[in-house]
Amino acid sequence: MTEQEKPDETPEADAGEQPAAEQPAAEQPAAEKPDAAAGEQPAPPAAKPAAKAAAKKQPEPAKPAGPATAVVNPQRVPGTPIVPRRAILQIGFWTGIGAAVAGVAAGGVDFVYPRGVTGFGGTVSVSADALPAPGEKVQIPTGRFWLVNLTEEQGGPGLLALWWKCPHLGCTVPWKPNFSDPAIGADKKGWFRCPCHGSTYTDAGVRIFGPAPRSMDTMDLSVGADGRVSVNTGSTTNGAPDNADRAVRI
Ligand code: FES
Repeated sequence: MTEQEKPDETPEADAGEQPAAEQPAAEQPAAEKPDAAAGEQPAPPAAKPAAKAAAKKQPEPAKPAGPATAVVNPQRVPGTPIVPRRAILQIGFWTGIGAAVAGVAAGGVDFVYPRGVTGFGGTVSVSADALPAPGEKVQIPTGRFWLVNLTEEQGGPGLLALWWKCPHLGCTVPWKPNFSDPAIGADKKGWFRCPCHGSTYTDAGVRIFGPAPRSMDTMDLSVGADGRVSVNTGSTTNGAPDNADRAVRI
């Protein structure tokens, strides 16, 4: 026999001689045995409906209302600032402008409506123990006025605040305790007398001589429960012959 006549020993030929691979398919009694036994065991088929019922009872997850919204997370390019430089410059510019405007506005409000002003232009307080005795007067430089305690002979009684500014041309009017002039008033000593042009005033600031157009101006005055006197130097009344009637009793 030549080699060409030798039986073909290819795998196909061998496959026909592999009963072991076909045998399990033909002989699958083991897989059929459980079916046969299932007839005697009804319990497993009954468990499947119960599992389905349990699966149906599980609540479905809540679905979001409305159409789905796509969420986009912007990606920052490495090396670039989080806030653009242009935005930073704009914020700084407008912040500076706003601060400047606020400062100017606050200054204007303070000028028109001064707060907590003390001294001349505001309220000046004089404690009870610093008040002048009846018939006397004291100079209050912080308020630029004379505080006079008038007696009945002087037109009082009561306290009077006289602005020391002469109504003529504005000179400061001093009290001259030893001044007397027969041409003015008999033998009386002591007058308010302006050093500039000689205008002369009584204890109540009433003009009796000189070029002044009127009597000395008065300031609003009030007396507190504790005896402290408050003089509003920003509120004045033109002087007149009735100055003494404006006196406030203590
Ligand atoms: S300023 Fe006082 S009299 Fe002229």
